[in-house]
Order: sequence, then C-alpha cells, then structure tokens
Amino acid sequence: MILSGTKLATILSHELSQNIQSLKNKPKLVAVLVWNNTASLRYIKQKKKASETVGIKFELLHLQDDISEQWLLSEIEKLNNDTSVSWYIVQLPLPNHINSQHILENISPLKDVDGFHPVNQWKVLIWDTSWLVPCTPKGVMKLLSHHNISLQGKKVTILGRSNIVWKPLAALCINAGATLTSCNSHTEDIFSYTRHADIVISAIWKAYFLKAEHVSPNAVLIDVGFSVVDGVIYGDIDFEWCLKQWNTLTPVPWWVGPLTVAMLLENTYLAHQRQLWEKTI
Ligand code: GUN
Repeated sequence: MILSGTKLATILSHELSQNIQSLKNKPKLVAVLVWNNTASLRYIKQKKKASETVGIKFELLHLQDDISEQWLLSEIEKLNNDTSVSWYIVQLPLPNHINSQHILENISPLKDVDGFHPVNQWKVLIWDTSWLVPCTPKGVMKLLSHHNISLQGKKVTILGRSNIVWKPLAALCINAGATLTSCNSHTEDIFSYTRHADIVISAIWKAYFLKAEHVSPNAVLIDVGFSVVDGVIYGDIDFEWCLKQWNTLTPVPWWVGPLTVAMLLENTYLAHQRQLWEKTI
C-alpha cells in the first residue's frame, strides 16, 4: 500500500480552502529567502502556489545571499515589529556564514508558523501540540493517523538527527506511545535496528539508502528523504524494491514534501484563527 503524502495534502488543502473562504480577513504569510539553492527555490515556489490555492496571501522577501547575519537579524526584528505581518518563515538552509539557530531564536514565537523557535519546539517536547508544531513531523503524524496507523506500543526506528525534523518527530513518536530507536551516521550496524522495526522513518537524505532486505516485510516505511542525483530526485528508500515485499510506504515522489507545505498552511490558519479569537476576548 502506498501512503501518499501528495494525496493527503490535496485533501487537507481542500478542507483548508473552504475554511479560509469563510474568513473576512484572509491570513498573509511572508517567506524570507536568503539562499537561492535549487531545493529552497522549489520549496518557495510550492509554498507560494499552495498558499494562493487555499486563499492565503503570500509575500516573498528575497534578500541577497551575502547579507550579513547582523543585517538579517535587523530584517527579522522589522518583521517581528511589523503589525501588517502576522506570520512568517525563514527558508532554510541559510548560507554558511549565518548562524541559523541564532536567526530562528530571534523570530517571534508568536509569528513562527514553521514551529522552529525554541519555545515552540519546547511545547512539543512537553506534549503540548495545541500550538505551532514543526511542519514535516506534523505531516508525518497526520499521514499515519489518516491511515489509522497507531504508534502505541510499536517499535519505531527514526534515521536522522536534525533539529527541525528528527528532534520534534522523535518527541511526537514518544508522546504517541512508541518505543523509539534513533539511528544516525555513527550507529553501528544500522540495519539491525531497521530490520526489527514496525515503523521506519528515514530523514537522512541519502539516495536509496534503505532496501527491501533492510526492513521487515510488514513494516510501515515513511520516507522523508530528498536527494537529487544527476537531476533525478531520490528518497532514502528504494521503493521499487520495498513495494515488491508489500510494505506500506510513502515513496518519493508521492512523499511527505507536499504535506510539509500543507502543515505550514494549516499552522498559518490556526495562528490566524487564534489571533482573531484573542481579539474578541
Ligand atoms: N527547509 C527545509 N524544510 C524546511 C521547512 O519546513 N521550513 C523552512 N523554513 N525551511 C525548510
């Protein structure tokens, strides 16, 4: 069975556009783009198109990639203080001369619809998912729950170590009652962990790293990878091999990418609703 992130993103976007249609004041999302790499440009294009499809106004603040960290921080401060900007994101990765964590810490947690600010990450750690949950982990959990796949009591192995995907995802899996194993590039005999897992979630961005012999035939496989080799997009999982063994999986390109964007729009809508509600009390 294929768990299609693309299909679920379409369903969720349709629901969201109906909710947004009924709003008098439409939400606006600002995206800050500093580094023009292929993946970021692709993401920004998807975010713009998806926002406009559901009725969210989208504005791009495109800055020079040689901008200093100090200058970028002053732009962030302007966005934090600009009452016409309710929600914004800073597209990652940033150029190497900029400390990304420093930038994320300076985004107002109230405007941070990516859910990357330490306050928002902390809320996920303490099981408070009522506010702005980071988008890719939120999308993975939505995909599993949409297909009635419970994590309770399951052996879940996650490959990765990033702050924006792996850490919040690990917290969400633990909160959902999973028995979690975390693997990274230093893990010895990594496949001994993936082979025994009920659910494998891979976010290491290594083309076709996992093959059918590395996972149980009954395992659910979620691919969060995205690698471009000679112009071809690959996930972390060699899905043609795995499909032959009847695994349940999200093959790239029907992957979780569009769900990340759908969750960003959902966060923007939720934050907008909350702001409207707060204004009435
Ligand atoms: N780069 C890769 N994924 C993301 C994301 O979800 N948000 C932002 N801001 N940058 C990213």
